[in-house]
Amino acid sequence: MQAQEVLRQLRMPELDDVRQYVRGFPTNALMGMGAFAAITTYWFATRPKALKPPCDLTQQSIEMPGGERARRSVLNDSSELMTHYYSDALTMYEVFQRGLRVSNNGPCLGSRKPNQPYEWETYGEVASRAENIGSALLHRGHSHTGDKYIGIFSQNRPEWTISELACYTYSLVAVPLYDTLGTEAISYIIDKASISTVICDVPEKVRMILDCVSGQGRSVKTIVVMEAIDDDLVTRGKESGIEILKLKEFEPPKPEDLAIICFTSGTTGNPKGAMLTHGNVISNTAAFIRVTQVHCMLNLHDIHVSYLPLAHMFERVVQGVILIHGARIGYFQGDIRLLMDDLKTLQPTVFPVVPRLLNRMFDKVFGQANTPLKRWLLDFAFRRKESELKSGVVRKDSMWDKLIFKKVQASLGGRVRLMITGAAPVSPTILTFLRAALGCQFYEGYGQTECTAGCSMSMPGDWSAGHVGPPLPCNYIKLVDVAEMNYLAANGEGEVCVKGPNVFLGYLEDPEKTAEAIDADGWLHTGDVGKWLPNGSLKIIDRKKHIFKLAQGEYIAPEKIETVYNRSDPVAQIFVHGDSLQACLVGIVVPDPDFLPIWAKKKGLEGSYSELCSNQDVKKAILEDILNLGKEAGLKSFEQVRDIALHQEMFSVQNGLLTPTLKAKRAELQSRFRDQINALYAKIKI
Ligand SMILES: *[C@@H]1O[C@H](CO)[C@@H](O)[C@H](O)[C@H]1NC(C)=O
Ligand SMILES: *[C@@H]1O[C@H](CO)[C@@H](O)[C@H](O)[C@H]1NC(C)=O
Ligand SMILES: *[C@@H]1O[C@H](CO)[C@@H](O)[C@H](O)[C@H]1NC(C)=O
Repeated sequence: MQAQEVLRQLRMPELDDVRQYVRGFPTNALMGMGAFAAITTYWFATRPKALKPPCDLTQQSIEMPGGERARRSVLNDSSELMTHYYSDALTMYEVFQRGLRVSNNGPCLGSRKPNQPYEWETYGEVASRAENIGSALLHRGHSHTGDKYIGIFSQNRPEWTISELACYTYSLVAVPLYDTLGTEAISYIIDKASISTVICDVPEKVRMILDCVSGQGRSVKTIVVMEAIDDDLVTRGKESGIEILKLKEFEPPKPEDLAIICFTSGTTGNPKGAMLTHGNVISNTAAFIRVTQVHCMLNLHDIHVSYLPLAHMFERVVQGVILIHGARIGYFQGDIRLLMDDLKTLQPTVFPVVPRLLNRMFDKVFGQANTPLKRWLLDFAFRRKESELKSGVVRKDSMWDKLIFKKVQASLGGRVRLMITGAAPVSPTILTFLRAALGCQFYEGYGQTECTAGCSMSMPGDWSAGHVGPPLPCNYIKLVDVAEMNYLAANGEGEVCVKGPNVFLGYLEDPEKTAEAIDADGWLHTGDVGKWLPNGSLKIIDRKKHIFKLAQGEYIAPEKIETVYNRSDPVAQIFVHGDSLQACLVGIVVPDPDFLPIWAKKKGLEGSYSELCSNQDVKKAILEDILNLGKEAGLKSFEQVRDIALHQEMFSVQNGLLTPTLKAKRAELQSRFRDQINALYAKIKI
């Protein structure tokens, strides 16, 4: 058996043939011959080989230029002395790079904990750690032309080699230090080479360096430690003017580390900086992959067209999904008017869109159907494809695609297979039409920056519109009572609240706003009002309005009241104010500069715009007019303003009273008109 094993190892498959050939021999003879053959082969295979010099080793001395004689290796393949072996490894940096290449990113540095097997870091891992540490050294002011000496004071371990490579990656110079030199010699070396950064393995070595800096060796400014250190040592370093850092701080972030701060412009006050961690973004990315994976797994052949602002998380998450799969990102030329041209050239497969663009595409397709016949055909084709969509069929190779929809599909480059929209509500009609016309998987998501980008998304295979799908796999969603607007969780309606690893850390330097957004149990309150459909899809039905209670406990939704008063002819803009300390409402009215004079004249009041604005009779007339409108619209008596003040300057984006989307900045308005409001209340009390 053993002999057979040996033979097999020696790759001698002929054994069976031999057996066949000698089948006729008596068994004993066979066994004898077999044993003989095996032993002979074994002997040949294992006999010691004598290694001989490749050539005559007798050294010949040669004559050097200038007449001196010297000796050289007989292994001279050329008359030159050897300077390198591989022509692509001329520096220590290239040595490692070559290893990285030829090992095909194989195992590189191994280490072990007591009683454990070796764990290996690959060449690639070592390379990127070295790059990270090296660039941190550059960042701290080291450079090839200036402060270039880096002390390395450590036992052998992977970080030693990595620190050395870190130096080589950026042409810095490693200066190894070692215990047996003694403190005095180490001080001398540090001083001699003016070393400002020393990388140490353990706290003990840090202490030694700190001991040095009292005398010579005062050039040290930074000590980097591979292992954990206690605060005492950091403090001691600080006292001597030395910063002690952990090597980890030079390396890439962990999931819980902050990745990005996204400032979102709210309807009130200054922008708020939403703090998002790597983990936030990754969990949202993962959820997106998991949902689309069902029918549309992305892969390295995908191409994404990047034109939606990267300052918004929606685009960033999509990019994450692309990069994680080794796919491609092609950018638009920077001019949205050239996007269609970019699409034709890039031929993307992944195309995120915002509703505004969808509206434009919709109008364009309908605009091209400019005769009744064409319109009828378009409608007919759409109906056919819509009925396919309802049964889950998504395609662009039907007769209708070839006849009718080819053009619009080609205008997107012809290869789009995944679209996603979000960021704002999209009309169900338009979404369904474009789903049918474009014949690609077209998802609708819902979310906000505070939950990274999305918290719900339509399900693959459900190509119905008018809802935003069930929760993403990275978060829970619950609906919470908005009693004052009559939305109750018990009825499956309420404010959308989100909890999960995609929910942000909070707003930068703003604990107050953070506490308003995330409650004590970690639920993000989105401010949107949602409704559960029977199958667990979410439908966004309203926005939690600005609501307050008056002193007697009645809820007031000022926007509703403003909309009513806004219908008054002389009124251009109005701001209704009230709070829980007051029993009634007051308003600030900007009269309409064009209509006010005409309207006032009918009431027998004349003058310039500004004269009219400061005329108490005009004010009274306007108040009367809006109160009448309020009555007609069914406002309750506590929902009517008690008094108003007229103001001549329009609320605008420029004066900070409107958001860029032209919504009232209520907090701003309130503080800007504080004096007028106080005066109105003071008058009412008298
Ligand atoms: C190597 O060195 C020997 C002795 O100097 C010389 O005779 C020989 O030509 C050299 N070989 C080559 C390939 O240069
Ligand atoms: C869920 O219900 C909505 C509304 O009835 C419907 O449009 C949608 O297709 C349903 N989704 C699934 C996955 O059944
Ligand atoms: C007030 O009415 C004008 C048009 O008459 C409209 O543009 C504006 O949006 C309205 N404002 C509010 C707050 O309803």
